[in-house]
Amino acid sequence: MFKASDRLIHLRVRVQIVFRRLVFASVLFFGLHGAALGTETADHPSPPTREASTLTPHPGYLLLTEKAYLPPDFDQETFDSVWKVWPQPLREQAADVSVEERRQMAFQRYGLTKRPGDDSGKPLQYVVDDQGHWTMNCLACHGGSVYGRPTPGAPNNLYALQTLSEEIRKTKLRMGKTLTRMDLGSLAIPLGTTHGTTNAVVFGVALMNFRDRHLNIVNAPPPPVVHHDMDAPPWWYFHKRPYLYIDGFAQRGHRGLMQFILVQENGPEKFRQWEQDFRQIYDYLMSLRPPPYEGPIDHGLADRGQALFRVNCAECHGGNGGRDSVERYPNHREPLDSIGTDPVRLRAIPLEGRQRYAESWFAAAGEDPESVQHTILDPDGYVAPPLDGIWASAPYFHNGSVPTLWHVLNPEQRPTVWRRIAEEIDAEKVGLRIEVVHQIPLTESDFAVRRQYFDTRKAGKSNAGHDYPDSLTPSEKQAVLEYLKTL
Ligand code: HEC
Ligand code: HEC
Repeated sequence: MFKASDRLIHLRVRVQIVFRRLVFASVLFFGLHGAALGTETADHPSPPTREASTLTPHPGYLLLTEKAYLPPDFDQETFDSVWKVWPQPLREQAADVSVEERRQMAFQRYGLTKRPGDDSGKPLQYVVDDQGHWTMNCLACHGGSVYGRPTPGAPNNLYALQTLSEEIRKTKLRMGKTLTRMDLGSLAIPLGTTHGTTNAVVFGVALMNFRDRHLNIVNAPPPPVVHHDMDAPPWWYFHKRPYLYIDGFAQRGHRGLMQFILVQENGPEKFRQWEQDFRQIYDYLMSLRPPPYEGPIDHGLADRGQALFRVNCAECHGGNGGRDSVERYPNHREPLDSIGTDPVRLRAIPLEGRQRYAESWFAAAGEDPESVQHTILDPDGYVAPPLDGIWASAPYFHNGSVPTLWHVLNPEQRPTVWRRIAEEIDAEKVGLRIEVVHQIPLTESDFAVRRQYFDTRKAGKSNAGHDYPDSLTPSEKQAVLEYLKTL
């Protein structure tokens, strides 16, 4: 890579290369393989994830938080200097406080949390090694705060990846430090236009484009991509879902979890080498269960809601007869023209991309026939997720366009432009506390503030569809809302 001083000149040339290096992360999205390769489900499911860390951590959790599978993104010195590029008056406030308090402010600005049951001060979302190198991990998107409580496996609905990447880049340039793939990647593709959501699926499409079926790196023109932001799903759905992703196109397994390490630095041999680690990570994901709702529940009302849910919702979402009732999860895919939620995600993965995945090492086609994972090449809609712990994974729908369960149940009341205004739960509507505005305040000079707003009129951000609850009366909706707290 190169030094700050040469970097601007090289920028344009680099854009193409960046697609290859991009990496970062995560990506997640295509799918998998494990059961057939002998991955085992945990014998004992973990207790609610928030408690899990006070017990002996699962080996898969330790791998995620302690082992870097990518080259580092930045170092401690850079992170501790990032406040110097903040807008005023924030910068002035940061200048007046201790290093520790400044770190706190930075965690807050970028949607990072501490690790539960761990007072090292390290973030849940990054591996930090002994030299102070920070490397993004899966929990950047899949480990967030559930109304103030850091919870591995909960979607990180505050993650400010774009803002963090821009401010780290600026800081490195000021400090004369070498730029790395995220610093450059974020110039080539948008990482996430609204905090709490990311363009993760496009990272996956872009990275797969430069690999052959054995994961050797190949030259190829950049793929056509349709940028769109998604809200990560909670990992406590994983044990119930035989097929992953909102369109359910990829059979569940451990190899598919390795897509996030498709950076150029990781050749095909790394995937074989780390496969055993990802069996443990798979096992960890299989063990996760949602945290229970802690507020008061009106059980009489919830029972009424359960009966209504069985008739109106269970056909798609499953009976939810209990947290472990896997057999009752129907894995039901609803065609796009019927579900009516935002269509962009379904169309953003072309047949070619799915085909490429199906033929690759991730799905093991062409290898041991026993281990081939099934890939659905032409899904026509979205799969209804299990609703376990649904109170803890706001905002709702795959793009995170709906702030509360009450708004899911009342489609005509959904806000057009909104932002979250408090960390606490809105216990009445069950979800995020929000304010509603006419439009994103374009006079606001702090991008970190602008990216707090969700504008459902933008491409990929529609909050339409899923009108099924409208077959219920207002009092029936109230009962279903109460029942949803119990899942
Ligand atoms: C930059 C954010 C980000 C990072 C980092 C990330 N993911 Fe994801 N993940 C997502 C998004 C967004 C989706 C939803 C994709 C979809 O449905 O199309 C997702 C989906 C998944 C799913 C499917 C869940 C389901 O119920 O369908 C699994 C499993 C998963 N990710 C595992 C991982 C693992 C393991 C890592 C690290 C190796 C990782 N993710 C890193 C954003 C991320
Ligand atoms: C015909 C199938 C179908 C029926 C009936 C249905 N849903 Fe859904 N539901 C879906 C699908 C598909 C999604 C995913 C939509 C998306 O993310 O774009 C979904 C999403 C949801 C979500 C958001 C989940 C999340 O993790 O963001 C909630 C909450 C929900 N449904 C509740 C209900 C309730 C309550 C009922 C009954 C009143 C119901 N659904 C009836 C198919 C259905």
